[in-house]
Amino acid sequence: MTATNSSDTTRRSSGHRDLLARRESVLGPNTPLFYSEDPLQIVSATGVTVTGSDGRTYLDAYNNVPHVGHCHPRVIEAITREMSRVNVHSRYLTDTPIDYAEALLDLFPSSLDRMFFTNSGSEANDLALRLARFQTGHTGVLISDHSYHGNTQALMSLTTGIKMSEPLGDHVRTFRAPDSRVTSTSLSDSLAQVDAAIADLERGGHGVSAVLLDPLFSTEGLPDVPDGYMDGLCARVRAAGGLVIGDEVQSGFGRTAEHVWGFQAAAFVPDMVVLGKPMGNGFPLGAVIAPAGIVEPFSAANTYFNTFATTPAAAAAGHAVLQVMDSESLMERARESSTLFRKGFEELVHGDDRLTGVRGTGMFMGMQFVDPATGAPDGSTAKAVVDAMRENGVLIGRVGRHDEVLKIRPPLAFGPADVPIALDAFERSLESVKH
Ligand SMILES: Cc1ncc(COP(=O)(O)O)c(C=O)c1O
Repeated sequence: MTATNSSDTTRRSSGHRDLLARRESVLGPNTPLFYSEDPLQIVSATGVTVTGSDGRTYLDAYNNVPHVGHCHPRVIEAITREMSRVNVHSRYLTDTPIDYAEALLDLFPSSLDRMFFTNSGSEANDLALRLARFQTGHTGVLISDHSYHGNTQALMSLTTGIKMSEPLGDHVRTFRAPDSRVTSTSLSDSLAQVDAAIADLERGGHGVSAVLLDPLFSTEGLPDVPDGYMDGLCARVRAAGGLVIGDEVQSGFGRTAEHVWGFQAAAFVPDMVVLGKPMGNGFPLGAVIAPAGIVEPFSAANTYFNTFATTPAAAAAGHAVLQVMDSESLMERARESSTLFRKGFEELVHGDDRLTGVRGTGMFMGMQFVDPATGAPDGSTAKAVVDAMRENGVLIGRVGRHDEVLKIRPPLAFGPADVPIALDAFERSLESVKH
């Protein structure tokens, strides 16, 4: 394979190079940075585009945080309004968080009728695990073998999908989400793996407090999970006395286009849900959604207080996101765009023996690169295509065990008119990254 990357680092300004050096000297050289060999400095953003310090405008087909569009005026107005009016923490009575909580909880099944506000997905997952421990009296956690749920110490003990020095906790067991494209693993083998993990947790005296999972298994590379797996997994966890926690940080808020929540697309109902990233369109905002039967006993025994969460400004940001999704029909738009995207990607990958087809659901798509000779995952070609896409003016990313799956997860505002631009860039990128 020869990667064509026409990036001309000399083109980047001296200001850009200085900023990189200054960043390294204050944050250190190992702080993650996309396009690390030639980082993109973003100076402004609007809608579904960002502008770089190189003067180029890029189409954003990667970022889910600016869910309703970068710098959306209604979100900015809502935050500014609340910041200018009152922005006290949750121990005073204010109306904005309550209005928002009511609107948000209306989007869930009636069993999920309470919420905690947090500032991030990590905080929310940490709290959900704590709630599960409290509720079940067990400590064991089941986690997929290539996943990421956040950066707190409790979450590091169950992180399998990024580099880290800490070992998995003694109370943690992993399972592999099956992919129906990989025929060597049957549904019954996959569920037997879950049985074995549960039995091991029980033998170790941990029991099962929860399975924590992303309904789309995004970090894992968007496997095509066979019918019956989610039902089987959830039933086993519940039979062991544990809870099912759906981490909707990536899959929520209409990402799948057909459904508001990823768990609906994956056809299961979690006992608790965790929200983050797109929730505040860039304003730090996360949440745990849980039944009163879990929240109330926990809150009676524990004072959970979080200074910056539940503020009027955070709630206003979240509420504005829901209102814009509605007023701009963003899920309908996502349905239209994702249909066009999928059709276009399928045509482009057809007959290309480096790619195993198009994965994912709605506005979360993945394409896996393999070595055509051996079928082995090919992260380096995937990287070359991500770089070529950037050169062709479109931002995408990578996921998967070997970072071999292209990750296309644009703001939900990405419209049908944007799709052909991204497809054209993809066609040129595939062409430029030769076998
Ligand atoms: C599925 C999932 N859960 C949780 C998190 C953590 O969220 P945050 O970075 O807001 O703490 C992430 C972040 O990438 C994530 O992808």
